[in-house]
Amino acid sequence: MTVVFFVISASSAPAASASAALALEHGCFSCHGEPSRGGSPTFAQLSRHLAKYKGQTGAAARKGEKLKTDDESQDITPHRMLSSEKATLLLQWLIDGVAP
Ligand code: HEC
Repeated sequence: MTVVFFVISASSAPAASASAALALEHGCFSCHGEPSRGGSPTFAQLSRHLAKYKGQTGAAARKGEKLKTDDESQDITPHRMLSSEKATLLLQWLIDGVAP
């Protein structure tokens, strides 16, 4: 058990910063930064909203898939262009709480 926890905590810190870099790389901050653009929620707001999924297995993958495919949302190309893997990473980053 100890070993498992160690492995998880050792790998989560680099994953979090990788996701911030990923968000930067994909231009997510141009709409979700501070101040946000065109009425988009900021990442801080999204993160607070998504915090309820913390600890739920598969939530990041599910929300990531929804972001990529949700027809109700406005047609936002950067959302749709994400790979499933990157969408999951980014949603996990938001669920875990964006560093202030
Ligand atoms: C062109 C502006 C724009 C860009 C660029 C953009 N977004 Fe968004 N995003 C929005 C708007 C507007 C909403 C709110 C409406 C909606 O849910 O579609 C939103 C909503 C979201 C949500 C909440 C979806 C939900 O289910 O409530 C997440 C998560 C998100 N964006 C992540 C990202 C990520 C990650 C990127 C970078 C790959 C990104 N966005 C790039 C405009 C943008």
